[in-house]
Amino acid sequence: MTTLPSALNGFVPETALVLGSGLGSLVEAVDAVHRIDYDDLDGFPPSGVSGHAGELVAGHLSDQRVVVMSGRVHYYEHGDAAAMRAPLEALKAAGVRRIILTNSAGSIDSDMPPGSVMQIEDHINFSGSNPLIGEPSDARFVGLTNAYDEAICSAFAEAADELSITLHKGVYMWFSGPCFETPAEIKMARLMGADAVGMSTVPEVILSRFLGLDVAALSVITNFAAGMTGDELSHQETKDMAPKGGERLAKLIATVLEKGFA
Ligand code: HPA
Repeated sequence: MTTLPSALNGFVPETALVLGSGLGSLVEAVDAVHRIDYDDLDGFPPSGVSGHAGELVAGHLSDQRVVVMSGRVHYYEHGDAAAMRAPLEALKAAGVRRIILTNSAGSIDSDMPPGSVMQIEDHINFSGSNPLIGEPSDARFVGLTNAYDEAICSAFAEAADELSITLHKGVYMWFSGPCFETPAEIKMARLMGADAVGMSTVPEVILSRFLGLDVAALSVITNFAAGMTGDELSHQETKDMAPKGGERLAKLIATVLEKGFA
């Protein structure tokens, strides 16, 4: 067991990427300097979810120094919304300044089919929980008016234009999971202004803003949400479909990194 900064042995990543279910292939594009199992790192809980590798890769992607978390722990695994706090603190201690979060999500919008990529512009925390519950300092009162960094969002929009990739924008609604939503819950989510639903990311956004990191988040749409097609949903479908949109997402991320950050 060691801390992330010492495991990185002088390598200082500036950008962190967190890969969602079935999106692990993005890591192959990284010219790796270090590959470290979460089991060997202080504070990195393994994800017990199939489709999540549980490995951290640090290296170069499009000439940027990055660290990639291939797999994350979810609230629904242990009921701990702050489960990602220690890993995010470790990323910050290692030098990370911005974080690009990815996930798989269900679409509520009939014009955003499986395989689409959606940039999260805003979120609704419908879980009833919050990773900062119990944080004693006044820093817990995090403002989320501009949770998603405008400059990084614009960089993704430009990259999408350049690559002729349709990049949807929308509101992500966090359900605790692990079961999928009901059709009635999806109707409610639509009425409340959501465009996509999922079981992750929002706690990481909150924690990242708490830590002062710049945040962008993108969803790969793996299915239409419950009740929209009549088909039952499954985790297998998520894992099968994620790599399809994941390829587009990988290109977008590589292009954004190539352009660099101000
Ligand atoms: N709901 C919640 N989480 C998801 C879905 C969904 O439809 N698809 C992929 N992750």
